[in-house]
Amino acid sequence: MLKIGMIGAGFVAKFHERALRSVRNVEFAGIYALQGAEALAQVARQDRLGDSKAYGSIAELVRAVDVVCVFAPNFARVEMMREIAAAVEGGTRLKGIIIEKPLARNFNEANTLVRIAKAMNVPTAYFENQIHMPAVVQARTQLAQVEKAMGPAHLARSAEEHGGPHEPWFWDPTTQGGGVCCDMGCHSIACGMYMVTPSGKPVNYLKPLRVSATMALLKWGKEPWISQLKKRGVDYSVTPAEDYSSVSLEFEDPQTKQHSIVQASNSWMYDAPGLRLLMEAFGPGYSYTVNSLESPAGIFISDAAAAAVLDSELVLEKSQASRGALILQPDEIALYGYVAEWLDALQAFEQGHDALLNLEYGRFITLLIMAAYMSHEKRKVIDMTNPQTLAELGTYVPLIQQGKGRQVL
Ligand SMILES: NC(=O)c1ccc[n+]([C@@H]2O[C@H](COP(=O)([O-])OP(=O)(O)OC[C@H]3O[C@@H](n4cnc5c(N)ncnc54)[C@H](O)[C@@H]3O)[C@@H](O)[C@H]2O)c1
Repeated sequence: MLKIGMIGAGFVAKFHERALRSVRNVEFAGIYALQGAEALAQVARQDRLGDSKAYGSIAELVRAVDVVCVFAPNFARVEMMREIAAAVEGGTRLKGIIIEKPLARNFNEANTLVRIAKAMNVPTAYFENQIHMPAVVQARTQLAQVEKAMGPAHLARSAEEHGGPHEPWFWDPTTQGGGVCCDMGCHSIACGMYMVTPSGKPVNYLKPLRVSATMALLKWGKEPWISQLKKRGVDYSVTPAEDYSSVSLEFEDPQTKQHSIVQASNSWMYDAPGLRLLMEAFGPGYSYTVNSLESPAGIFISDAAAAAVLDSELVLEKSQASRGALILQPDEIALYGYVAEWLDALQAFEQGHDALLNLEYGRFITLLIMAAYMSHEKRKVIDMTNPQTLAELGTYVPLIQQGKGRQVL
């Protein structure tokens, strides 16, 4: 039975606690976080996930578990990995390290994380849940014979949109890494690339040729939204980030030389019932679509009853309303792929190897995100086959991430 330890007890850690209720042979043993560790440990104990305890430091947590998960904010990643490495150096044996998306704010940080993990010689998982979404996996399974006969999908459109993040550090481009492209473009780029990757090939099989992107600050730079952000300590008149991002990526199959295109669209201005994941793949003679807001279930809350609902997010992630006709998802955790990503990672760690998506894969996604920012910044298509461009991307920190977004938004 693997013992899990989480660093971070916020939004995503709570989602993962819920996911672990559907995973066998695992004990949620400990949590370290600046805030919320004891409360989450209590929920985990109530859910009979194990004798969960709050620990006072990363070193203590690492000593008590087999698998450590970094579910803390992006700006804290490198420091946390160093602390994990120090604990391992001190003699603790780990069976796995999990890091949530996005791997890092830029390529240099992502590379540092990969290097530290390699030196520790511990198997890794990069948690990108959307590739594990049962709807996406099942569509591909059901189309496997069709794909074999007709060829792989050549166009994927992948989108994640909602009305904006919950914590101020997400909005601040210097702490998060950017705006919506860094935060959610990582999902849509990864999932889109997976959808055009031929069945049976590794997740990093396709060769990126070109990346072009357009980003903008459409909603949150205007009143009354900009003042709302200011009250939360984020000033978009000084350090803005993009709330809209459209990235187009062209790939080549290294064996057949055929090209495929991924369109990744993301926004923080989706004023609609809740978070929407929308994926479409088109192959020769076939297609599939996934829309996370389509559900067989729905609920209705009248104005008279609305006062009884304290938190609209209880209904659906990033839900924006607490009355009227609302979307009801019977199992959001499974829908988004959280359970499946745990099953994949833990099975891999038990066998002593990396999960389907490892930190090197996360670094590859970071490279594509950096190319998107560079494209927007330079108003140019980025040639991913040019060694000079790749070297530039290795040390590139987008202007938006530097807090200089006013120059490009
Ligand atoms: N897969 C997904 O769809 C998904 C969804 C949400 C968040 N995430 C990712 O998960 C990560 C965490 O996001 P979140 O929404 O849970 O954030 P959050 O702000 O809700 O929670 C962060 C947690 O980390 C703790 N923390 C912050 N700084 C710390 C430090 N220096 N040391 C120890 N603990 C610290 C906080 O106290 C809190 O418990 C982010 O990288 C985010 O991108 C992924």
